[in-house]
Amino acid sequence: MVNKADHSENTTDQGLLRGRFSEATDEFVEVFTASISFDQRLYAEDIRGSLAHAQMLLKIKILTSGEFDQIKGGLEAIKGEIENNQMNWSVALEDVHMNIENRLIQLIGDTGKKLHTGRSRNDQVATDIRLYLRDAIDQILDLESALLHRLADLAELHHDTILPGFTHLQAAQPITFGHHLMAWFAMLNRDRSRLIDCRKRTNQLPLGAAALAGTPYKPDREYMAELLEFEGVCENSLDAVSDRDFAIEFCSVTALTLTHMSRWCEELILWSSQQFSFIELPDRFCTGSSIMPQKKNPDVPELIRGKTGRVNGNLISMLTLMKSQPLAYNKDNQEDKEPLFDSVDTLRDCLTALVGLVPNIIPNKGNMRHAALAGFTTATDLADYLVRKGLPFRDAHEVVGEAVQRAIELGKPLEALSITELAGGTSDIIDEDVYEVLSLTGSVAARDHLGGTAPAQVLKAIAKAREHI
Ligand code: ARG
Repeated sequence: MVNKADHSENTTDQGLLRGRFSEATDEFVEVFTASISFDQRLYAEDIRGSLAHAQMLLKIKILTSGEFDQIKGGLEAIKGEIENNQMNWSVALEDVHMNIENRLIQLIGDTGKKLHTGRSRNDQVATDIRLYLRDAIDQILDLESALLHRLADLAELHHDTILPGFTHLQAAQPITFGHHLMAWFAMLNRDRSRLIDCRKRTNQLPLGAAALAGTPYKPDREYMAELLEFEGVCENSLDAVSDRDFAIEFCSVTALTLTHMSRWCEELILWSSQQFSFIELPDRFCTGSSIMPQKKNPDVPELIRGKTGRVNGNLISMLTLMKSQPLAYNKDNQEDKEPLFDSVDTLRDCLTALVGLVPNIIPNKGNMRHAALAGFTTATDLADYLVRKGLPFRDAHEVVGEAVQRAIELGKPLEALSITELAGGTSDIIDEDVYEVLSLTGSVAARDHLGGTAPAQVLKAIAKAREHI
């Protein structure tokens, strides 16, 4: 809960920083400039960062150990209050940093006023966001690895289940369902590696940069980095407090991940329709219609597809808020939080949904097979067969085109044609073994090479992929 303009409990009657002003903040401006309604979320990171800063102040002898203990006890008490919903957040105190600092001073008195020595909210907030994002990335990486495992399990189960592969959404060639699923695996696995990479650049410490120029107290920045488990220190103080490229990068990785998921979800939606009937989605992941009693709507994949819009929007918001900002910190940066938080939440939710959904996708093997048989999907195999018998590919292509034409006229699939119907003038080079080539299983088994759709290759690809999750 946020209190509107409650100045009464602040350490000065106008908050912590109005010493140089001759009038109180305008009421509207107070609300307009406050971020407490959304940056409360950073309370744990803010306290963690403050503890590391205080411990460093102890190390460089700015704080005595008695003072440090008091600050530590106070910050821990505040954490308890927040988690028990007892914190009285105040808009007048603008943001999470000043709310917590103000509460510390209320609790422990003058020693609390020493915490902000050699620190600014500028390096404080940059540290908080990096700590927050690092944790969020770790949670997301875990969800991604769960999803990848489940995808690999489903692919293994269906390494030899046949369906038509599509180009232009037209049945093209028979493929295995396992191979198809492993294509989604490959995309999500690349998204995951992009996130791992983004974590490295997120995991750098801004503290010590203070407002922009550093601080005369000679802060031990490496020590704070160690305490907070950062891999390194942001080495230029101006850059440390002002850039948000790590958050932009996260939003970009999220936009791309959701873009992949939305392609995949589009397929789940199409495939679960009566027209395709390739898969059945579990009832508990679908909803009904308020008017049409027969409906079973694929709302979960539809929402994931739709939520791609908001994460793409978040990326544009982040890029645009950073664009044109002169060095160093500007208040524009307060606008980084809502899009970032929203991208984190959205990605986490969409992954959670898919982790639950994927193992429960039931393919309708009969319909998949039927669709693969219906579309002359082994026509290329016939052409390849004729090439092996000595015909140049372009001539073979034409012969097979004519065979398809005949099959359409006769209303039969290719493998139901006689050898003469299949090959017209070239029937002398065709033997009975052509029927194996025209079969769906023969077609997929023939593509037995790295990256091919043959069931044996799919199993190899899955084994290899599992090593990298
Ligand atoms: N609430 C601010 C933010 O989110 C904290 C930093 C404010 N710094 C300042 N100099 N006004 O960016």
